[in-house]
Amino acid sequence: MPKQHQPALTRRAFLASSAIIAADATLHLSQPHAAPAGASEFRLQAAPARVRLLADPYPETSVWCYGGRVPGPEIRVKQGDRLRIIVENGLDEETTVHWHGLRVPNAMDGVPHLTQKPIGPGGRFVYEFDARDAGTYWYHPHQRSFEQVGRGLYGPLIIEEREPIQVDRDVTWVLGDWRMMPSGAISDDFGNRHDEAHDGRVGNTVTINGRVPDNFAVRTGERIRLRLINAANARIFALDLVALQAQIVALDGQPVTPHTPDGGIIILGPAMRADVILDMTGKPGSRLTVVDRFYKDREYKLIDIVYSDRPLREQTPDWPVALAVNPLSEPDLVNAQHHDVTFTGGMMGAMVMREMGRGMGPGRMGGMRSMMEMMHSGKIWFINGVAAEGHIMDPMLTLARGRSYVLAMTNATAWHHPMHLHGHAFRVISRNGASTRYREWQDTVLMAPKERVEIAFVADNPGDWMFHCHILEHQASGMMGVIRVAEERIRT
Ligand code: C2O
Ligand code: CU
Repeated sequence: MPKQHQPALTRRAFLASSAIIAADATLHLSQPHAAPAGASEFRLQAAPARVRLLADPYPETSVWCYGGRVPGPEIRVKQGDRLRIIVENGLDEETTVHWHGLRVPNAMDGVPHLTQKPIGPGGRFVYEFDARDAGTYWYHPHQRSFEQVGRGLYGPLIIEEREPIQVDRDVTWVLGDWRMMPSGAISDDFGNRHDEAHDGRVGNTVTINGRVPDNFAVRTGERIRLRLINAANARIFALDLVALQAQIVALDGQPVTPHTPDGGIIILGPAMRADVILDMTGKPGSRLTVVDRFYKDREYKLIDIVYSDRPLREQTPDWPVALAVNPLSEPDLVNAQHHDVTFTGGMMGAMVMREMGRGMGPGRMGGMRSMMEMMHSGKIWFINGVAAEGHIMDPMLTLARGRSYVLAMTNATAWHHPMHLHGHAFRVISRNGASTRYREWQDTVLMAPKERVEIAFVADNPGDWMFHCHILEHQASGMMGVIRVAEERIRT
């Protein structure tokens, strides 16, 4: 029997937007709808709306969002399901929707001009693809995303395992970051040169599921699977969960060996996700604070975890936490072809290039452009010496379908960059020459200033795929390229 969902513009879903997590129940109201056999159908309307991000006495905030709420409705299906998502554009400008982290056919990837004609105002586009990998994903526009995402267009997309691990509660936190003015309105200085050349549009107001958070209620003995999604334009989070002994079980949707992160701190660059298992071992009636420590001297309290007086159970459960792996092709590192990818540009970039310069080869450096020149041209960031303008460009790499590749990436800049590849997941195999402990699968890897990171993957999804920094202001000012996976299969 086909499953039907209609999580969109019902009045109930709109009203529920302030009820945060509890709102999910209203999203699965089924309505008779002619979905193709076996497909779960969803309807997403991108449009302006007013929502309550800030607590009283602030007014509601004008945003752009899906289904009248921030974040947009949660799309939730089972692994192996087929999704059919009807997107309607109620904005005054073109848009598209990209299914971040999902390995979809190229024509469904939502990249304007490259994979589809953008959806004009009043227009619609039907996306349809299979949910191949279980995990925590999200959706957002790929058209002028530095403004469209920054005004609130994003939502969670959860693909449940065929046999999920046992937990008491499965909770999603979509982390948002806003640059608010004292009036409670969003500052409209999108895409300014200063943000582009530095660390992007880092805001001044962090939300969880579209509200400035206050408390999160838990019970002693409870086990929670917390799905963290960083939907910010530019803010990097370093969530101190040390007191909760958080165990990471998936990164970017892909299962990883369960482990506690270094120092108990979970680092999430823009677009990155982590699934963590939290065992609530505090005393009934106690509370603790989750602090975000990423930016030096700018630590702040994200949320308070508050224990109810009634414990759920005495002992923490001993249920297994490891997730079943997804059907990804294992890269063949022995026969993989290697490519160097060097990132340059940004404020203080020339200095970093001089420091790192030796042994990098001048061709790789993208030339020593002065900051003035870069600011003037709007080209601020370079991948192998090229700054992107728009989504149509010659591929920076052409890969043969079915073959294994290692990209040896060098961040020759003074800034962090979360680098995202569409259409694939890759293993992060080394950092600064040392093998990573878990060889984690990711679709977005955060590179620290001057860091060298190697990733490996099988180019098994044909098409032209974006490869870009997910600090959306960096993407808009050049830090983007196309990687082509050529149709012909490699015979071995
Ligand atoms: Cu999440 Cu190219 O994007
Ligand atoms: Cu960047």
